[in-house]
Amino acid sequence: MNILLLGSGGREHALAWKIAQSSQLTNLYIAPGNPGTSTLGTNLPFSADDFQSIKIAVLEHEIDWVIVGSEDPLVKGIADFFASDKQLKNVSVIGPSKIAAQLEGSKNFAKKFMLRHGIPTAKYFSVTSETIDEGIQFLQQLSSPYVLKADGLAAGKGVLIIDSLEEAEQELKSMLEGKFGTASKTVVIEQFLSGIECSVFVITDGNNYKILPEAKDYKRIGEGDTGLNTGGMGAVSPVSFADKYFMKKVEEYIIRPTINGLREEGIVYKGFIFFGLINVKGEPYVIEYNVRMGDPETEAVMLRIKSDFVDLLGGVVNENLDEKEIKIDERFAATVMLVSGGYPQAYEKGKEISGLDKVEGSIIFHAGTALKNGKLVTNGGRVMAISSYGNTMKEALEISLRNAEKINFEGKYFRKDIGFDL
Ligand code: AMP
Ligand code: GLY
Repeated sequence: MNILLLGSGGREHALAWKIAQSSQLTNLYIAPGNPGTSTLGTNLPFSADDFQSIKIAVLEHEIDWVIVGSEDPLVKGIADFFASDKQLKNVSVIGPSKIAAQLEGSKNFAKKFMLRHGIPTAKYFSVTSETIDEGIQFLQQLSSPYVLKADGLAAGKGVLIIDSLEEAEQELKSMLEGKFGTASKTVVIEQFLSGIECSVFVITDGNNYKILPEAKDYKRIGEGDTGLNTGGMGAVSPVSFADKYFMKKVEEYIIRPTINGLREEGIVYKGFIFFGLINVKGEPYVIEYNVRMGDPETEAVMLRIKSDFVDLLGGVVNENLDEKEIKIDERFAATVMLVSGGYPQAYEKGKEISGLDKVEGSIIFHAGTALKNGKLVTNGGRVMAISSYGNTMKEALEISLRNAEKINFEGKYFRKDIGFDL
């Protein structure tokens, strides 16, 4: 099996790590990858949404499957690009069709889908500049805080949660006027749900599905979940409140209606579905869908999958996922992200990274790193994820934190309180 994995972050390094352990793998390629993935396969020098370069590489390296790490190529229609190309149509893309990717690419699409299938989610109203008066009326019926979401992809920045009604009305106007470009030409106004969040992942072949280990990520830069939002500062798996009773509800009210709803609507979905959930007094609600794995959740979740991951993905490709068994490691996994000083605002790159040789008992996944004159340097806000096993969450976290102290670069920062709320 020759596999091409698209992406370059910690998530892709973690996927590559798991794929590389498979006995079914012949060659693994990663585009564009990072210095971490280059130790597990061959990095190819083009971006994950450069479809023409992907096509050339797929033909040259006789790729059997393409696994798509991030949402961008999916929302741009990479699965449809393969399906409609004579030379590529026998290559399997693990990732949904363009229309299915709208579950992440358009909040309005996702909300309408959930409404059609009775999937629990916050009350909402979708607004455009033509319906702004109705939007303001809807806002006035809600109570504070007010949730405003840009309909389209906005690099994770398109959601505003605002305390004052007056400010929410102002922000609604500025979003419709292009605060997030075309992404906020439509705005979804939502009822605020109060609870604790977790991420549930499934893989599906369109008919059958397997639930992967759930995780919780920590998005804020500061300890105690304070300060600005980031791409994610750490993750843990399992999540204590996602016990079998909660997960039974998730499966019955959310996962199954989603898979069945897609199939009933004739929407082709082969790949990962990420359910961003909130637990409101024991009841799960969908905050968002993503059409890919989470980052940094994947850096914890991959540690807990004992089955051969390529074999499992074979079930997606061959539509016989029901015949596969997923074995889960009962231990805990904790991931701590090292980030550049200043992140998520301005930060410097190119800082030399040292101390990796002193790491003991953790698995390091590169995110924003690069090789410069043979030296490993920082090359992004999130630099690397440190993932560890433990018999308890605390033990797993302590191992990651001990190793976080050993790795050094100028400006290094990490949160020491991952998992604090569980
Ligand atoms: P999203 O991009 O939809 O995941 O939203 C980003 C974050 O905003 C979520 O992870 C939640 O923490 C928060 N959020 C989104 N929608 C709601 C809601 N309806 N109620 C409460 N919090 C929300
Ligand atoms: N960790 C949240 C995400 O990947 O969107």
